[in-house]
Formats: sequence, C-alpha cells, structure tokens
Amino acid sequence: MKEAKGWRLGSMGDIKILPGSRHRPPLKRPIWIILTVSFVSLLLLCAYLYPPNGDVACYVFSSKGCKVLGNWLPPAPKREFTDDEIISRVVVRDILNMPTVQSKNPKIAFMFLTPGSLPFEKLWDMFFRGHEGRFSVYVHASKEKPVHESRYFLNREIRSSTVQWGAFNMVDAERRLLAYALKDSDNEHFVLLSDSCVPMHNFDYVYNYLMHANMSFVDCFVDPGPHGNGRYSVRMLPEVEEKDFRKGSQWFTMKRQHALIVMADSLYYSRFRDYCKPGLDGKNCIADEHYFPTFFSLIDPGGIANWSVTHVDWSERKWHPKSYRTQDVTYELLRNIMTIDQKTHITSNDKGDELLQPCLWNGIRRPCFLFARKFYPETLDKLVTLLNF
Ligand SMILES: *[C@@H]1O[C@H](CO)[C@@H](O)[C@H](O)[C@H]1NC(C)=O
Ligand SMILES: *[C@@H]1O[C@H](CO)[C@@H](O)[C@H](O)[C@H]1NC(C)=O
Repeated sequence: MKEAKGWRLGSMGDIKILPGSRHRPPLKRPIWIILTVSFVSLLLLCAYLYPPNGDVACYVFSSKGCKVLGNWLPPAPKREFTDDEIISRVVVRDILNMPTVQSKNPKIAFMFLTPGSLPFEKLWDMFFRGHEGRFSVYVHASKEKPVHESRYFLNREIRSSTVQWGAFNMVDAERRLLAYALKDSDNEHFVLLSDSCVPMHNFDYVYNYLMHANMSFVDCFVDPGPHGNGRYSVRMLPEVEEKDFRKGSQWFTMKRQHALIVMADSLYYSRFRDYCKPGLDGKNCIADEHYFPTFFSLIDPGGIANWSVTHVDWSERKWHPKSYRTQDVTYELLRNIMTIDQKTHITSNDKGDELLQPCLWNGIRRPCFLFARKFYPETLDKLVTLLNF
C-alpha cells in the first residue's frame, strides 16, 4: 500500500513540473473549450446509444438514469447454496431418483398421535375389518397409556414422549411415528391422524386413493398474514427466506420416499427447532404448521398436493377449528365433506382471503378428503350408524 501511494504522488509531481503548461497562448483557449465540449457530447451520445452496465457508469451518468439503465442489467445471480444446503439437496435428489422397491404386500401405515385412549377405535375397527395385511397401526400416546377396544390397536403403541400444543415436540412425535413405521418395509404410504379424526370413505377407497397417487398429501400455501409470514424469523436465514415460508395443516399423508427424506433432513429441521417456537421474538410460530410445508415446497414442490386429505372446518375463523357435536353430525354433513372437490385456504390477513383451487389427483379432479376432524367422542354412535362401513 505504502509503495503504491508513493508512486502515485511521484507521478503527480511529474505532471506539475511539465514545462510550458503555465504559458499557453491565450488565442488557443476557445478551441480547447470547443474540443472538450465536443468530446463530452460524444461521450454522452455513446452512453445513450450503448448503455453502460456497471454501477460506476450508472453513478457517473446521473442518479435518475440508474433506474432506467438498471433494467438492462441481467438479474442478480441466485444466492450461492451453503454447504449444508448442497448436502441436503444431493441426498434428497438421490432418494427421489431411487427406483421404488415395490413390496409384494404393500401396506398403509396409520399413525395416531393422541394424548391417551382413542375414542373412535370402534369406528376404525369397522373400517379395518377384512383388510388384514394391507395396513399397519401405530399409536403415539403422549400422556397416558390408552385402553383399547379394537384388536387392531392392541400392542401398537410406540415409545412416546411429551407433546404440547404448538411446541416443537409435536414435530418430534411425528418424526418418531414415521421412524417406527418405516421399520416395516411393506409400509408404502404413511398417514398421520389424531384422536379426533374419523374416516370418511371405506378402506378400499382410501387404500386405492393413497397407493395410486403420484404425490404426498402435504398441505401448503402462502399466508401473508400474522399467523403465516408474521411468524417467520430472519434468524432462519440464509436457508429459509421469507418468500419460501409456507403454512399448512399438520395432518399429512406421505409416500415412503418422502418419509425417508424427512428422516434425512437435519438442516431445515434444526432451523425450525431453533427459530420456530411460541414466544420467540414475540412471535407465536407453530412448527408443526410450517416445517413440512416449507421443507417440501423447497425441496420437492411438485411432489406434494398442497392440500391435506383430512377435512377440517376453519370457516368460523377462530383460533381452533369447529368441533362437531352429536347434533351437528348428519347425513348431509358427511355427504358434504365426502364430495368437496376443491381445496380452501384462508389467509390470516385483515381481508381473510379464501383461496380456492380444484383438488387434482394425478391430474384428475376428485374429492379432496378421506378423513375428517374434529369430532367429540359423543358422536361415535351416530358416526357408526351413518358411515356403516
Ligand atoms: C404445489 O404448490 C407449488 C408451489 O408452492 C407448485 O410448484 C406445485 O406444482 C403445486 N403442486 C401441485 C401438485 O399442484
Ligand atoms: C402426477 O400425474 C399427473 C397426471 O399424469 C401429472 O400431471 C403430474 O406431473 C404427476 N406428478 C408427479 C409428481 O409425478
């Protein structure tokens, strides 16, 4: 640095002592001005005809011109992936490209996330009966040991841990269920259900709908409101940008490959574990409503349906969805849920926009829902009579 400075000063000094510069004949001054003006005009003309594409040029030719000239610039290069993102993406790509090993005895894993006993075991028993060998049941009971009514649920409990509403341990419980269900290589599709969920169609319908679908039913949409992007934290940068933040119901179904990808993810998992939780920075981020939607929309957006096959009624726009009592459970209610063929997403901004889109199953418009919630235990008998599996 020092050397360079010295050299510059030296050469400036040289200019100063050039002989004759102080004694120009006065007559030549107008020509000198004309030449300078012409040269500058020519420069400006060139700049107009051949717009420069550098910041320096932009700065030199007025600040107003910058915006216009800016349109000529190529779009800013995409952010360079971090090492963790590169690792994550190669693993995901290879899992997705792996030829799927078709089991001779493909099963659906029904994974129940519940505090204790399941009030609708009797209904599920009717649903499963006669289809032995085509399903497996897993129960994650986070509070107390369930009392079972149905043989399909006996000894199907997995090791479980505390689950609090809104807390990240909900995601851990979901991953634990997936891990246990993945141990059986015959399980090809994985369904997450709660104690207040009931089936809306018979077993064959559900089995064919899920097994022959070319995607996972993970709910996903953009919610610009306070309960959507308002929960995003810049601490998730650089891997999770706000434009990539998504919302969706936690009740998913997943193909085996997607369940494996969930097991393989540590990058996005840790971002959500650390920066999406109630109370962080005054936000109320509910990880189970954001982690899977955001994760899949980043790594395999075309592989998810963007709706949940478990129906829930948010139309009252309260903090919790509508829960059905016995008097609500009618033939019309069930018929209505079974035949809806467009998905509805309600955003949490002031307008509360309703986003409607057809449910496309392998490109064909079909009913969206296989299951529904939330039903009070008192509705059991009425559901058994009306559904009549
Ligand atoms: C789901 O939404 C994403 C955009 O977030 C889109 O790229 C993808 O195609 C959608 N999936 C389906 C099956 O329509
Ligand atoms: C699923 O099938 C539909 C219809 O053939 C097709 O348009 C869509 O791209 C497929 N999606 C995937 C993830 O293969």
